Amino acid sequence: MYLERLTSILGEDLVLAYPAQFDRYCRDWMGDVTVGCVAVLRPRTTEDVAQAVRTCRDLGLSIVPQGGNTGLVLGGLPDDPARQVILSLERLNRIRKIEPADFSAIVEAGCILQTVKNAVAEKDLFFPLALGAQGSCQIGGNISTNAGGLNVLRYGMMREQVFGLEVVLPDGRIWNGLSALRKDNRGIDLKHLFIGAEGTLGIVTAAAIKLLPRPTKVATGLIAVASLRDAVSIYSLCRSLCSDLMTAFEFLPPSALALAKEAMPTLDYPIAGEHPAYALMEIAGSGLIDIDALMESTLAELYDRGLVLDGVLSSSEKQTRNLWAFREGMIHGIANRGRHLRTDISVAFSRLPDFVGQAESLLGLKLPACQAVSYGHVGDGNVHLDVIPPSDLTEDEKIHVVEAAKDLLFDLVYEFDGSISAEHGLGREKRDDFIKSTPPVTIELLQSIKNAIDPDGIMNPGCQLPRKN
Ligand code: FAD
Ligand code: LAC
Ligand code: ZN
Repeated sequence: MYLERLTSILGEDLVLAYPAQFDRYCRDWMGDVTVGCVAVLRPRTTEDVAQAVRTCRDLGLSIVPQGGNTGLVLGGLPDDPARQVILSLERLNRIRKIEPADFSAIVEAGCILQTVKNAVAEKDLFFPLALGAQGSCQIGGNISTNAGGLNVLRYGMMREQVFGLEVVLPDGRIWNGLSALRKDNRGIDLKHLFIGAEGTLGIVTAAAIKLLPRPTKVATGLIAVASLRDAVSIYSLCRSLCSDLMTAFEFLPPSALALAKEAMPTLDYPIAGEHPAYALMEIAGSGLIDIDALMESTLAELYDRGLVLDGVLSSSEKQTRNLWAFREGMIHGIANRGRHLRTDISVAFSRLPDFVGQAESLLGLKLPACQAVSYGHVGDGNVHLDVIPPSDLTEDEKIHVVEAAKDLLFDLVYEFDGSISAEHGLGREKRDDFIKSTPPVTIELLQSIKNAIDPDGIMNPGCQLPRKN
């Protein structure tokens, strides 16, 4: 009934006609969850989005905005299939303008991150956000999750790449905050409300983003190290040795390399033998700086100090791709193992080795049959500590184990004054853990903001905060 009403008001072009076409919008990236929805709307313009929002309001429906659907916490998937509509931004995907003179661009929310990176690179510019999902995630999704990724240690998270936003509000009004001014202190900076809001306050339709000159020289290396503790010391040392030009420093245990190889059997192991741990590092720059020499002298210093067991420097684009493929491939390797716990934890950088050490010991003690894989953006104090249940368990048993592993790890995160969501957001998956572990005043403030902007609770209800009804 709703599908017909929506189609007659919005037109056939905007509304997917058959529930059989909903599938890819209704499944999470990992393949753990499949949901239902009233309809899938696919607007082409900001005005279309505004009209869709007004129509849903009038019909008493609520809206779940969806970008590339690569989110890992179920923020873009409905949890009330009889009353929620998915609004996909995939067709709102124009690059409105690139302004080299201002180092800025205006892009629509549905632009794929990789497309934006390529388009600005053609003009010798650089958009620094980089993550494994960049071939399918969208700028609007990146903004709404305040995405992090591989280059945060040098350039910051998505929030730091945004000058201004255009947003369709829950009452259908369009807020034009698309200014690309670098400095503007006219009161509270409203864009920050929508960055990281996971679609709970409005629908981001376009963004003014910050660009940089494209680094012309990049050096990539993989080093084998004795432990995470050594990796953390090396990172601190490298920041000074590399004049803070480091763009990535990713930690990988040997199991991560094996998982990558499982998913991509043609990958070449870059370093012979197995070592206790690895770090994938990259430095980048342009102009007179000799990036290769800087990387070589840095590695030499690490060898001299006895901090590195072995290492390889990439000398071609092919080798660089192979090194990064291990980092990207491992996620597919984990996904192929089926249901597992994914975490996205941050603690103070200096305490990361203690946290991971204690967490892995606890897991070994309480859930000895599980495989723990700790990897990720250690330079940001951020670790993805994933837990893979034994393959012979039933799906229900796996769910139980995943829940037990999560409780155990989150309790430790709280002891370390850390965060259970360093970069992926809360979505529906981490909502209750967040509420349970957060002071009431914080929740009340968040609730007041939600009530002020979306008093009827129609914008992504159930995401971040509980649904009203
Ligand atoms: P979606 O998954 O579609 O949506 C995410 C949330 O944003 C939902 O709550 C949705 O309702 C909301 N939303 C989407 N678009 C809009 C909009 N236009 N307006 C309002 N709300 C909107 N994340 C990281 O931070 N760092 C990583 O390194 C990283 N690596 C990843 C690697 C892989 C292989 C995968 C699968 C995911 C990874 N992610 C990572 C998670 C994910 O890619 C990011 O969260 C990304 O920013 C989500 O973008 P999306 O377009 O897919 O959003
Ligand atoms: C990564 C995702 C999982 O860093 O955040 O690979
Ligand atoms: Zn990550």
